[in-house]
Amino acid sequence: MKKLAEFYRGKAKTVYTTDDPHFVILEFRNDISMLDGKYLKQFDRKGMINNQFNYIIMQKLLRSGIPTQIERVLSHHETLVKKLKMIPVEFVVRNRAAGSIVKRLGIKEGQILDPPLYDLFLKNDSMNDPIINASYCRTFGWVSEVHFAKMKELTYQTNHILKNFFDDAGLILVDFKLEFGLFNDEVVLGDEFSPDVSRLWDKKTLKKMDKDLFRQSLGGVIEAYEEVARRIGVSFN
Ligand code: TMP
Repeated sequence: MKKLAEFYRGKAKTVYTTDDPHFVILEFRNDISMLDGKYLKQFDRKGMINNQFNYIIMQKLLRSGIPTQIERVLSHHETLVKKLKMIPVEFVVRNRAAGSIVKRLGIKEGQILDPPLYDLFLKNDSMNDPIINASYCRTFGWVSEVHFAKMKELTYQTNHILKNFFDDAGLILVDFKLEFGLFNDEVVLGDEFSPDVSRLWDKKTLKKMDKDLFRQSLGGVIEAYEEVARRIGVSFN
């Protein structure tokens, strides 16, 4: 598969077209950002770590029955994926309170949320990804009712699969964000799963091992990303 032109540049990934219109290449860069891209930094090895992390998670989900866009890893930083028509809605699941829900409701960080909560956000950096709900998706035509129901079902299934997977790796899956798209009118999980778009805490110490280390200037970002990747089976040669 030949890499052609840059098609879309996100905050941490670049998407390239290929000589096959049904496939694109995701390049994981070393960039990390916060405040919707207003604050940007680079960390050596981050692109490689997230590329491998994402591949292992997507493979796990695929084997557990979740349709994902993943095809194969092409290099340290690149993965070949199906080209989806992306839906501009972010699906978030929370097993414990952290981040925006703590600020919004004034509850204690770490509080167990049982049953887990799910939130929807509109993917729009210039409006700081505002919180929405299912009726917005219908009224504004962002996603059909049938596709929405499938995305919600896949989001909960993903939580079930990954909660157990991370538990086996000595990690608590605190929360995460998913994005879906359509391939031949079928709902498929797209984008990425990495410590950039999830919160992962050490099971014993409750130490943060995800992007919150960067958001909160706690340090040790790459060391933590490498450690969580190692725990789920990534090997760095
Ligand atoms: P939040 O606490 O900021 O609402 O985020 C919940 C989880 O979803 C957290 O793991 C980060 C992830 N997330 C993103 O990766 N991108 C986003 O735009 C949003 C809203 C959340």
